[in-house]
Amino acid sequence: MIKILPSILAADSLRMGEEIARVMEAGADGLHVDIMDAHFVPNLSFSPALVKAIRKGFPAVYQDVHLMMDNPAAYISAFAEAGADAITIHAEISENIEEILRDIRAHGCKAGLSVKPKTDVRAVEKYLPLCDQVLVMTVEPGFGGQKFMADMMPKLRWLRENGFAGGVQVDGGVNVETARACVSAGADELVMGTALVRAEDPVAVIRACRFLEEKA
Ligand code: DX5
Ligand code: ZN
Repeated sequence: MIKILPSILAADSLRMGEEIARVMEAGADGLHVDIMDAHFVPNLSFSPALVKAIRKGFPAVYQDVHLMMDNPAAYISAFAEAGADAITIHAEISENIEEILRDIRAHGCKAGLSVKPKTDVRAVEKYLPLCDQVLVMTVEPGFGGQKFMADMMPKLRWLRENGFAGGVQVDGGVNVETARACVSAGADELVMGTALVRAEDPVAVIRACRFLEEKA
């Protein structure tokens, strides 16, 4: 079953609660929460305080936290205690990836590893036994609303061909059209910012994505 995870980076910050209710009522499977530190990516976004507020306001909502940070190790506890269900770090960081993935799981969260567009997907290979999910970026991380990079699809195929049975996520420029290529290449978790959160009819977007799965 495909998971559809709206990225709340695309939400109106002043109306965060309403925007979350809208996408969840439309049938989303959880929320994708982008954390940016202004070093790993040239932008700043949210903190554990938002994850905590969502956990309080929407206790049953699955929170998939994407850490675009140079030094995530020191923040795993904070995000886990705030209420993250899954925490993804990046393969490009210089900290000890194995240790952080183990720590994420030790906190009872799903552990994920992500690759930026210019990073070879084989960078995740030795960590796959420690990963519940792998996130393939289909834009340069940092901003919503960018153009989908179709040439990332072989990374998804490589993961499945190498027997990875966990979640395969795509993030960046995913919409009903580009999702088709992602699902046929092996993705089962679609992160959608602009195309879903800003959609006039989020129910129709989600329905169209579910239909892709039936056809895959
Ligand atoms: C980009 C973030 C994405 C972003 C996706 O750095 O990781 O999650 O919000 O937004 P769209 O779907 O608009 O590309
Ligand atoms: Zn993201």
